[in-house]
Amino acid sequence: MPRTRALRRTSIAAALCLALASCASFPPLGVDRVREFTVETPDAGAELDGYRIALVTDVHYGNRFSRARLDALVEAVNALGADCVILGGDHTLGYAQIAPFAEAAGRIRARDGVFAVVGNHDFFNGRSATIRTLRAAGIVVLDETVVETPRGVFFAGTNDLRDVFPTMGPFLEILPPRDRFTVLVTHNPDLAAEIDLSPFDLVLSGHTHGGQITVRGYAPIIPSEYGQRFRSGWVDVGGTPVIVSNGVGYGGSVLRFRVGAPSEIIVITVRSTAREKGR
Ligand SMILES: [Fe+2]
Repeated sequence: MPRTRALRRTSIAAALCLALASCASFPPLGVDRVREFTVETPDAGAELDGYRIALVTDVHYGNRFSRARLDALVEAVNALGADCVILGGDHTLGYAQIAPFAEAAGRIRARDGVFAVVGNHDFFNGRSATIRTLRAAGIVVLDETVVETPRGVFFAGTNDLRDVFPTMGPFLEILPPRDRFTVLVTHNPDLAAEIDLSPFDLVLSGHTHGGQITVRGYAPIIPSEYGQRFRSGWVDVGGTPVIVSNGVGYGGSVLRFRVGAPSEIIVITVRSTAREKGR
């Protein structure tokens, strides 16, 4: 390659890196933002009106994600005072980070409980160890099961979609009646396009990281079979809201930064329309 052309290419690459670095998001602590949504449903009785769910996902603790930032994240979550907290999976970089992550997560306080599912990275990192250690820290792990919280919210949680297809048979058999407020938590939002969502009032997911690196809202690299559909935010699937969080941390080992996909905690406020529906 002629020297001038090689120099030009090097300059273009350097300029591109500088441009990316200048708009990349490097929050020193916690997250870039808290994003709020409101879900209206007749299945939540008046006693659940105003119930707030915080979704914290894809921390990937240890992957350019420090202990100080994890502690700040826990403080930020506690400061929200949500009724319950959902940890959406992809909790750590590897096996070594499972115990310190669980210790920090065990300090999250929510009066109706802290719940978790596992993500694809948790499979590589040690699925059983992740579940066992989170449970020992007081977190309810939704491993292909359904639980009712003390306030009467039902959370159903799945395995990661692409590692072990969720065993939706027995799972569906223990779902509550359709008129109870029921939330499906699935790390990978693709599941929402592949099953009947009619038993659920709401689906919560992460996994896509909002694309992590986006250009005008378009993510060139996105881990979904459905392109940009589940990149970020509110997606209506047959009338059921699927809320996909950008997550908190970084995936991969090279592009450990964010562009146009701010790290976030999502907070959902439940609004009961039961009275309007005559319940
Ligand atoms: Fe992730």
